Amino acid sequence: MENPDTGLNPALQTKLTHSLALLQHIAKEFSPAVFANSLGVEDMVLTDLIARHHIAIDIFSLDTGRLPNETYTLMQQAAEAYPAKPIKVFFPQAEAVETYVNTHGINGFYGSVDARKTCCHIRKLEPLARALAGKQAWITGLRSEQSTTRTTMQEQEWDATNGLQKFNPLLVWTEKEVWAYIKTYQVPYNALHDQHYPSIGCAPCTRAIAVGEDIRAGRWWWESPENKECGLHAKVSSLKPIK
Ligand code: ADX
Ligand code: SF4
Repeated sequence: MENPDTGLNPALQTKLTHSLALLQHIAKEFSPAVFANSLGVEDMVLTDLIARHHIAIDIFSLDTGRLPNETYTLMQQAAEAYPAKPIKVFFPQAEAVETYVNTHGINGFYGSVDARKTCCHIRKLEPLARALAGKQAWITGLRSEQSTTRTTMQEQEWDATNGLQKFNPLLVWTEKEVWAYIKTYQVPYNALHDQHYPSIGCAPCTRAIAVGEDIRAGRWWWESPENKECGLHAKVSSLKPIK
């Protein structure tokens, strides 16, 4: 039976209660903790939970400079919907981007996996390290069913690369449950999700998926599935130095 207060089914209500308690636990025991917000649909659930329940967790976003317009539109909407929880933006280092573009070309990431990983390193990993500096924990919207590379993830992990705890409070949520929360609480979300983009990253590296395709099939679609991580969630970095 649905919860009459929320309209959520019991299974989702149980997961919601658990995720909320986990966020409150992180805020209490791992302060300062930060939430990495990509503005994807899972991250909008977490944004809403943190803001709605006044949880002492700051929010940041990595603006790679190549995000889709729809993501910037949502960033603005989120700022207006959650004024008490501003999203702090981290940009890549301008000189590193200039060197990359002047070496590999403006869309050099299509050229090879190495060139793509180097771009992700400059535009995401280096700013991430700055965003996480001095923090005890970070929070993500990762779900285990998103990808073959995510099935073994834990709700709490040690991020050896960045040297702090990492929490994935929505790890066991299904895509349907994420959307049930969004609709129930009328949370703003990225317009691209309604155009067959279940997973959204940078504009040039994300495309819509066809019916029946894997939900991350539109990310770095020209690469094989085992490469489909940008390194944000890797424990070991195999990145090559920029030439
Ligand atoms: S990615 O590694 O392939 O880019 P994905 O888009 O699935 O990751 O997002 C997984 C989680 O990584 C998000 O829930 C969020 O916590 C974090 N993340 C990804 N991209 C960003 C970003 N641009 N800014 C902040 N956090 C991000
Ligand atoms: Fe660069 Fe594409 Fe990675 Fe964005 S997703 S940082 S554009 S390679």
